[in-house]
Amino acid sequence: MYNKLSILHNLANQSTRIRMRTHRAMRMARGRERSSCSSRANENKENSVSFELRTEHGTLEQIAVDPRHRLWDHYVEIVAQYIETHWPEALESTTRSAFRKQYDEELRRRIDEGGRHLILWRRHEATVGFADAYVTGSGRRKELNVAEFSVVESMRRNGWGRLLFQALLDVGRRAGTHRVVVEVDKPMPSNAFWQAVLGACDASGERNVYSAPLKLGEWPA
Ligand SMILES: CC(C)(COP(=O)(O)OP(=O)(O)OC[C@H]1O[C@@H](n2cnc3c(N)ncnc32)[C@H](O)[C@@H]1OP(=O)(O)O)[C@@H](O)C(=O)NCCC(=O)NCCS
Repeated sequence: MYNKLSILHNLANQSTRIRMRTHRAMRMARGRERSSCSSRANENKENSVSFELRTEHGTLEQIAVDPRHRLWDHYVEIVAQYIETHWPEALESTTRSAFRKQYDEELRRRIDEGGRHLILWRRHEATVGFADAYVTGSGRRKELNVAEFSVVESMRRNGWGRLLFQALLDVGRRAGTHRVVVEVDKPMPSNAFWQAVLGACDASGERNVYSAPLKLGEWPA
């Protein structure tokens, strides 16, 4: 069972990849597209980096969120909503506000430890999606681990997930990672997405593990 403690425990343990649940599997549709994103970096007043992503869907803002950013509370709130939707058990023995507060504190702690990338994608001042990813390892073994990744419900199945994931991989490349790794719980519906974007997984363990090398300027091989 996934409960509040296990979520917080996972957050507290970078070497343990945060679990994502899955449900369905689709056949591999590996690397069908290349990134259509281009980017321009700005330092905003909160000292977080934002990028303007010009995509086939229009221009998006990509924001690296931290607790000083004006959208920090919004970020914590949408992640809390995402957990509430997908793992309602996490809130069974606590209140919503207590859970949110704990989650906020835990995220701050993890940011302080370094290697954490909390990303918001916005279009016309509205959130399109978000990610929580972190870097492990060093040298050639440096990996980008995707802990949370979501597109807002009303915008799904329109290619945003694929596009935002490409943008997240670019974050990983800039951070010097050589591989992306996503662990997904087997019953989670998003398995179809991960198979589409990363190909076949290692299904031998308790969770499906998707992984692909990251090369500069390339979609995972
Ligand atoms: C998983 C998620 C990020 C996908 O975002 P999206 O914008 O819908 O994804 P895309 O439209 O780019 O889909 C890319 C491909 O993934 C596959 N796919 C995505 N969602 C799918 C679904 N529900 N059923 C079957 N295939 C799916 C398809 O092959 C799709 O390509 P196609 O539309 O050309 O057939 C989104 O559904 C989501 O946020 N889900 C809830 C949170 C979640 O489960 N996150 C994953 C980690 S826990």
